[in-house]
Amino acid sequence: MERNPKAAKPILEALKGRYSCRNFTGAPVDDAVLGDLIDTGLMAATGGNLQPYSILIVRNPTTKAELRRLGGGQAFIEQADVLLVFALDWSRYQVYTQQKHAPFQANHQFLHLLIGIEDILCAAQTIETGAYLSGLGACYVGGVLETGSQIARLLHFPQGAYPIVMLALGHPAPGSDHKPTKLPRDLMVFQERYRPISEAEIRRAYDAKYASVDRHPLPLDGAARDRVLEQLLHNLSLTYPESQAQSYLEEIRQSGAYNEAQRRYGVHYGVETMRRRGHETLTGMREMGCDPLKMERDF
Ligand SMILES: Cc1cc2nc3c(=O)[nH]c(=O)nc-3n(C[C@H](O)[C@H](O)[C@H](O)COP(=O)(O)O)c2cc1C
Repeated sequence: MERNPKAAKPILEALKGRYSCRNFTGAPVDDAVLGDLIDTGLMAATGGNLQPYSILIVRNPTTKAELRRLGGGQAFIEQADVLLVFALDWSRYQVYTQQKHAPFQANHQFLHLLIGIEDILCAAQTIETGAYLSGLGACYVGGVLETGSQIARLLHFPQGAYPIVMLALGHPAPGSDHKPTKLPRDLMVFQERYRPISEAEIRRAYDAKYASVDRHPLPLDGAARDRVLEQLLHNLSLTYPESQAQSYLEEIRQSGAYNEAQRRYGVHYGVETMRRRGHETLTGMREMGCDPLKMERDF
């Protein structure tokens, strides 16, 4: 294939239409197509050419059902024909460095964790892009981190390997091409240096991004309502002084609804929830012989 801007233009235009697909027809993904996608992913950039990851291809319905349960329960996980589990994997290097009498602590180093995750996302996104161009649908699943040690057992991982992200792949069902609004380019992309951005501009941009989902009515049921309010107050209190948190909660109570920012960081990705999930992830990683803070703790 020719490689020049003219040849790339239609491909880039097509890629601007990519979206996360959460509804699949159930038709099988062709083995040769999947093989090509994986081979393309393995050619992605990787820090130091280390390639510290493995990709697990899962098609077995029982295993997929289990991965759905362990990955947050979303229905599309089981519906997808193929699940790709991307794991950070130091196990090969552990063996190889011992064979070569070389030092090795990458499984216990924070920077290696970050670089390994960068590597995985380079490969995963190459596959996601290829899948989209091949007419397939795909959606990442991030909820494998806190259940990682259970997933590791399910898929027979060796010590030194831990799941980072999953990609659900399949043929998209008609009407699955929902494209959420994205932030404007000039709020995220800067020429040469960062530019000052006013608070008003930030507010306008996020209000536009979340315009259609910015009001979440409190549950009508008293007990459910109390639970949400309690969760919001607790999470607000972890950010603001108590009196301010109380007054923000009162605003919510008065209006009978919370906004999208409050839903994201007060309910869905609540501060306390993410703290617990982060703790579970670190515990799971340690169980699998990857303690990413071990070498830095005593520095
Ligand atoms: C690391 C990562 C984890 C994700 N996890 C989930 C997930 O568990 N469930 C889900 O429905 N979407 C998940 N997504 C997809 C995002 O929700 C989606 O990319 C975002 O809403 C933007 O929509 P778009 O991909 O259609 O542009 C994930 C995306 C990434 C990059």
